[in-house]
Amino acid sequence: MDLDLLTTYCEGLCIPQSALLKELERETNLKTLNPRMLSGHLQGTLLHMLVKIHGSKRILEIGTFTGYATISMASALPDDGELITLEANEELEFISSKYFQKAELQDIITQHFGDAKALIKTIEGIFDLVFIDAGKKDNEFYFEQILPQVRSGGLILVDNVLWSGKVLDESMDNHTQIIHDFNVKMSRDPRLESLYLPLRDGLALFRKK
Ligand SMILES: C[S@@+](CC[C@H](N)C(=O)[O-])C[C@H]1O[C@@H](n2cnc3c(N)ncnc32)[C@H](O)[C@@H]1O
Repeated sequence: MDLDLLTTYCEGLCIPQSALLKELERETNLKTLNPRMLSGHLQGTLLHMLVKIHGSKRILEIGTFTGYATISMASALPDDGELITLEANEELEFISSKYFQKAELQDIITQHFGDAKALIKTIEGIFDLVFIDAGKKDNEFYFEQILPQVRSGGLILVDNVLWSGKVLDESMDNHTQIIHDFNVKMSRDPRLESLYLPLRDGLALFRKK
């Protein structure tokens, strides 16, 4: 079974990718060093759907990259919704802010540049949904930092939890071990209900009780 082919098959059956997100994906492929970091159509559609189904109004994203997931989620928010997104690399702003404008989401999206480990301590208020998608070894730090600011019934999503399948390796490298330990710890955490999906590089959904 070829997972890439199945992903392409599923993408073909989803809501079609918007022209704007297609253009953003293309520009990301052409102008960034690691375009595979972008969420893509299948995961972007899932994020969009989750925001709608969940009725989220206030979202925090950690790790904007070029803004694909940001736009996927923000476009599902009501007019009075808000999405705050944190990114370390200012060199990506020429892409992300252009597409936030093109999508007419600039009033809903606020982007802060800097180290998210410091920025997250300055972010105030309660969130309905948090998407953690930056340095993977910092997942637990971001998680513990933001959990008190997630409402009961709120969602925390964490990307890349399967780390290209390396979490199955018998002898894991350091980075993979950190991700695996995080997964095991979270799955046993009594504060949460957890769901792990083998979508793309692995997406975990945690519902705060
Ligand atoms: C996987 S990409 C995010 C992809 C994006 N969420 C999407 O779905 O299209 C991870 C991003 O996190 C950023 N990042 C890594 N460490 C960071 C940190 N300490 N603070 C802020 N951003 C960070 C990287 O620069 C990169 O753009």
